[in-house]
Amino acid sequence: GRPELGEVEGILLSQATCNEWQRIQSFQARPDDLLICTYPKAGTTWIQEIVDMIQQDGDLEKCKRAPVHRRHPFIEWARPPQPSGVEQAEAMPSPRTLKTHLPVKLLPPSFWEQQCKFLYVARNAKDCMVSYYHFQRMSKVVPDPGPWHEYFEVFMAGKVGWGPWHDHVKGWWKAKDTHCVLFLFYEDMKKDLKREIQKVARFLGKNLDQELLEKIVYHTSFDVMKDNPMANRAGVPLSIMDQSISPFMRKGTVGDWKNHFTVAQNERFDEDYEEKMAGTNLTFCMELGSAKP
Ligand code: A3P
Repeated sequence: GRPELGEVEGILLSQATCNEWQRIQSFQARPDDLLICTYPKAGTTWIQEIVDMIQQDGDLEKCKRAPVHRRHPFIEWARPPQPSGVEQAEAMPSPRTLKTHLPVKLLPPSFWEQQCKFLYVARNAKDCMVSYYHFQRMSKVVPDPGPWHEYFEVFMAGKVGWGPWHDHVKGWWKAKDTHCVLFLFYEDMKKDLKREIQKVARFLGKNLDQELLEKIVYHTSFDVMKDNPMANRAGVPLSIMDQSISPFMRKGTVGDWKNHFTVAQNERFDEDYEEKMAGTNLTFCMELGSAKP
């Protein structure tokens, strides 16, 4: 059977993560840590590959040292008896690049104290919901999403792993006013990947020449990553992911929600969204070719 989720401060997390919670909260960040932060399905794997290509100066052999989801310790990850994310990070020499899906309020405090660099990628809520739904269909280590209309309600209520999308993006959007956060949008990356990669490089203190920039753009395009066994989760066993149900590199587009939301669902979603996002100047592009509202 599929596992149940546990809960920390009202946020659903895997039970194993909840069991490790004290150790996760007391995680010791180092001042030169870079933390990749995302809500699930917002483009984590994509930004990880981009960051790695920049850090390895485009050396593909170095980038293929491990599957991309294993290159950066995932702070809150726990699956005993394997080494936890915290243990993996502790064993890693500096400078470290780490990954988390935690909302601001659950982040281990030492990341703030050490004034680390944070790289946040946000993706519009509707596409996140659709991507998360398909992920839960194929991943065997998260709850079964049930039919779409049920999942729609569960997601709207924030009863998914790592909690409500709205609080997540709003929390990190606010954090950028007081901390060193580069806040990126999945939709901007789809629109102009070259420009967004340059932003990341600048944030990391690297200067990319045209040739290297083009190489990274090519290597991190959806089609190339979909065929890259070090990016597409090819080695993940069937007991954890069944990619015949839905591939991990599924579509990689903006606006796929239109193929899932009914008109009525869309109206309800928009109404709820407006309430939950009131008072923030954070806006999203929900389809390419249209401007932000
Ligand atoms: P879809 O399910 O909409 O296709 P995460 O890595 O955070 O789990 O996010 C996964 C989502 O990012 C999936 O979205 C996946 O296809 C998409 N993705 C991964 N690599 C991508 C790339 N190079 N370009 C565009 N989208 C990408």
